Amino acid sequence: MAWLLARICFPKKVPRGKFSSCQTRAWSRGTVTAYMPEATAFPGSRDHQGLYQVSVEQTDAFWGVLGRSRLTWINPFHTVSYSDLQQGHVSWFLGGQLNVAVNCLDRHVHKAPEKVALVWEKDEPGQEDRITYRELLEMTCRLGNTMRRQGVKKGDRVTIYMPSCPMAVASMLACARIGAIHTVVFAGFSSAALADRIQDAQSETVITVNQGLRGGKVVPLKETVDQAVKLCPTVKRVFVSKRTDEKVPLSDLDIPLEEEMMKEDVACEPVAMESEDFLFLLYTSGSTGKPKGLVHSQAGYLLYAALTHKYVFDYHDGDVFGCVADIGWITGHSYVVYGPLCNGGTTILFESTPVYPNPGRYWETVERLKINQLYAAPTAIRLLLRYGDDWVKKYDRSSLKVLGSVGEPINTEAWEWYFNVVGDGRCPVIDTWWQTETGGICIAPRPSNPGEEILPSMAMRPFFGIRPSLLDGKGAVLTQNDVSGALCISQIWPGMARTIYNDHQRFLETYLTPYPGHFFTGDGAYRTSKGYYQLTGRLDDVINISGHRLGTAEIEEVVNKHGAVAESAVIGCPHEIKGEGAYVFIVLKKCSNLSQESLTSELQGLVSNEIAKYAAPEYIQVARRLPKTRSGKIMRRVLKKIIENKADELGDLTTLDDHEAVKEIIEGHKQLLQKKQVQQA
Ligand code: WT7
Repeated sequence: MAWLLARICFPKKVPRGKFSSCQTRAWSRGTVTAYMPEATAFPGSRDHQGLYQVSVEQTDAFWGVLGRSRLTWINPFHTVSYSDLQQGHVSWFLGGQLNVAVNCLDRHVHKAPEKVALVWEKDEPGQEDRITYRELLEMTCRLGNTMRRQGVKKGDRVTIYMPSCPMAVASMLACARIGAIHTVVFAGFSSAALADRIQDAQSETVITVNQGLRGGKVVPLKETVDQAVKLCPTVKRVFVSKRTDEKVPLSDLDIPLEEEMMKEDVACEPVAMESEDFLFLLYTSGSTGKPKGLVHSQAGYLLYAALTHKYVFDYHDGDVFGCVADIGWITGHSYVVYGPLCNGGTTILFESTPVYPNPGRYWETVERLKINQLYAAPTAIRLLLRYGDDWVKKYDRSSLKVLGSVGEPINTEAWEWYFNVVGDGRCPVIDTWWQTETGGICIAPRPSNPGEEILPSMAMRPFFGIRPSLLDGKGAVLTQNDVSGALCISQIWPGMARTIYNDHQRFLETYLTPYPGHFFTGDGAYRTSKGYYQLTGRLDDVINISGHRLGTAEIEEVVNKHGAVAESAVIGCPHEIKGEGAYVFIVLKKCSNLSQESLTSELQGLVSNEIAKYAAPEYIQVARRLPKTRSGKIMRRVLKKIIENKADELGDLTTLDDHEAVKEIIEGHKQLLQKKQVQQA
């Protein structure tokens, strides 16, 4: 906890100057029971606030009713929840058995087989494919049978390395159907990063495509898998789906997926899974070099994803839901796949980028596919804002009802533009805060009572069952408003991650022991005088580049592999579009005489190859020494202040061992900025 205490100095965020509050109706269908029929079980809850109170005060009663009504069970559960936070044991819907694929497919096929489940918005605009619930079920079953025939069993880990495409969704659901645990790795990760994740999960099976297409470019995904698999002796089979017509060389391990699937039956017996069996692992960065495989289980995760999808976005039957996130991130899992499909909705699978073939792509897609809810990242919104309003206004956006934002704080300028230009001032902008660990949205402006205000750039209100709290550096709960603290969630909820795969100790240490009795999110937050939550940023060594999390230690580990580097420190720096970028300080080995230019491009290349392109550092600054305490710990807060151009606010430097080093770094930073400005000009 000492590390935490040391870095908690919370900025108090005060709402900024211009305020446009938007008062639209997220749910206007009269009584709370019309909004949530299950509310009849709680006669006291006359409005949203009442229902929220029930959800946090009579937690088991609330989730028990919803668990029974919203999910289809093979065997009913006998106990709603169990928790022992000290040991990190959390269970929901004990005794219950269900199958997630049945909940996402079969039960909708019985009602409306020809309803569109997926709209695959391919990289090239105007070539969308619509896949009905019946078709998706058939694909899933054939794939499930293929995997079974090839020896994949319940509990096995299956690594999925694919772009957003129907076969990727079918792969996830086929795993769920036969009880395998999927672990999707974002297809932008390098072969080394992929290999790490395959090894950690001990996957015997990989599913990939011959090639990907993104922004008009071919991405050689199979080649990347080949390189990764060389490092992974556990891998016994690689299923290769055909995304393009290009033939790629196949080895002994490779199995052409479509060919095998054609031989299989369109029915596949679903396995009865226990509520707490693992559904998937998803790797995310933490404050050490090794990414952690967060584990989500079956029933609680599914219910939470479905309920948040329905109520945060006010999703109604027949709506077209457009979450443009990649399936490789938790946003893709919860709001492209599981939430919408569990609700029997129609969901967009977006394969392209916001600027391909031009910056009108999102809005042209909204017009063509008549998207009702759009869920995007602030980094994309900031990027598109720069291209001006004309790209937006060119297209008809009248189908839009709700605009969502996720992944990082959305600044007021981007929020206002999203609200006024994209939504023509008609659609509520929903800034949603959550994490890979939380499984689904935890803080968001909606739902709330009809007409209640939404303020720019604030996640605002907790979802049903979420009890946020702010704790001070001493671990005390701050009860008043107008305070900042470490954001914790103080009671269990069904969507929370259950453990870190093969490392429960790390799960305890990261989330549960910093503030005993609370789940610590790693974020800081400010609670306004009205009780709304506003996120203020990470409290640990995690940076957020374009809404994607990266541990600074992870980047340092790669940078240190360079032959000329003796030591490094990576700090997050503000970036206009990406939100944050990586700023790398390095100390060179004595013998090195590389120029700044070649060093920069070599290190950028190294990080792209070892992690992913988006992780490539913005700045490389060479220093003679790094500022350290007398006990040898790098003083990151000093480096942070320097790159924020706050060298006059370095704080307490009594433990600093070499004051000259700091002066040199301040000077070096100024020179680097000047150089960059000259280059950009
Ligand atoms: C971290 C989680 C949530 C799915 C995508 C990212 C930051 C996320 C917001 C927001 C401010 C946000 C937090 C969080 N974050 N949403 N609306 N406002 N910060 O999932 O990769 O697990 O990252 O992203 O720092 O802890 P993730």
